[in-house]
Amino acid sequence: MHTHNNGRSLCQGHGDGHTHVHNGADVEPDFTEAVDRQDKEETNALEDVIAGYLFYKTYTLNTGIYRRLQNIDDLSDRHRELVSSLGTIDKIKKAESLVRENQSFLNLLVHASTVNSMPDPADKESGFKEWSKGFFEFRKSAGKAPTSSHYMEKVHSTLKQFVRDWAEEGREEREQTYGPLLAALEDEFAHIEPESRGSVRVLVPGAGLGRLAYEICCRGFSSQGNEFSYFMLFASNFVLNKTSELNEHTIYPYVHQFSNVVRVEDQIRPVAIPDVLPRGLPFGDSAEFSMTAGDFIDIYSADDEKDQWDAIVTCFFMDTAKNVLAYLDTMWHAMKPGAVWINLGPLLWHFDNVAGESSIEFTRNEFIDLVKKVGFELDDSQFKESISVSYTANYRSMLQYTYHAFMFVARKPKD
Ligand SMILES: C[S@@+](CC[C@H](N)C(=O)[O-])C[C@H]1O[C@@H](n2cnc3c(N)ncnc32)[C@H](O)[C@@H]1O
Repeated sequence: MHTHNNGRSLCQGHGDGHTHVHNGADVEPDFTEAVDRQDKEETNALEDVIAGYLFYKTYTLNTGIYRRLQNIDDLSDRHRELVSSLGTIDKIKKAESLVRENQSFLNLLVHASTVNSMPDPADKESGFKEWSKGFFEFRKSAGKAPTSSHYMEKVHSTLKQFVRDWAEEGREEREQTYGPLLAALEDEFAHIEPESRGSVRVLVPGAGLGRLAYEICCRGFSSQGNEFSYFMLFASNFVLNKTSELNEHTIYPYVHQFSNVVRVEDQIRPVAIPDVLPRGLPFGDSAEFSMTAGDFIDIYSADDEKDQWDAIVTCFFMDTAKNVLAYLDTMWHAMKPGAVWINLGPLLWHFDNVAGESSIEFTRNEFIDLVKKVGFELDDSQFKESISVSYTANYRSMLQYTYHAFMFVARKPKD
């Protein structure tokens, strides 16, 4: 597993079975299902993610905050005074307090998904602190480190993904990325009124924090997101099922970024979530909304998934494959004859150059040839060669990455 250093982090993880988050009703994911099945690997993966979330503050303070304060302390008197006069020490101390606030948010997020024994972190009397201590002692006795830099990267990128999917600040990025996908989908089914689209089933593999799948449902379709990373699943469950007010939570996603910052206020700025209330879906029972937890191929190549979906929408997903042919076969299997596949993204092959992992990388043109050879029909008039999009960008940073993503609309031919 690795994280690319080009602004888009690789979200990997595990997950198994079907987990339904249904139209805001309290059908909650049961992440303990895996534990009950004594699936050791799955249990470990789940525990590692919980540990990553819960150890965030300690790890970040030790590696990011106290070290910086120490570095200033080690300066000569003259240099230290100069640094002090700028307010840099105050800035770092402020960052320390915001990391603590992020931790309070992450505790709530974990609590929302671990139905087992975790006491309520919002209740000082609940014994959460002791529980947490016991959890890390248990890990230590099993010879495990509390967490690692790899998992910390994932926590940091999940905080940024909240901005992409569920904050007002992410609106522009969503308009760039989800906008063209939603427009193409609505175009495709323009002959059906939104109130009557509930029977049209749309699948969103690699759904991340779920906003695209949610927006599809808001347009009247029955929509299902699929995701296999526990990091993402915890976060999407929290926002989809556990928020009841607009801007209910405040996070500080950029507090860890000390480079390419223009102003202190940019680094410590709060971001409120959610910008919409996911519980309030407009089309009642006619449009169903659900999330499945588990590997896309495992779930959707099952016999009962054959010819089930009217549309598949993929966003920054196809390049997560080790072997994209297996994704294409799964999509073909799950799509009804005549169903449409709408794709947007770059080709940052996630397993490219990952030690010990197999990976097959294609150019965009090779990939398109492959899509056609598998049997999909591509609508040339709807092919877009280059759409400028960002991914979890910090728009106030001096460093910005832009993908020149491509987009197409493809169809599985009618028999
Ligand atoms: C780059 S992220 C894109 C997330 C979202 N579509 C967006 O645009 O914000 C890719 C997502 O696919 C998920 N993913 C990767 N491989 C998967 C698989 N085989 N099955 C299910 N989800 C997968 C990752 O966990 C990650 O959340």
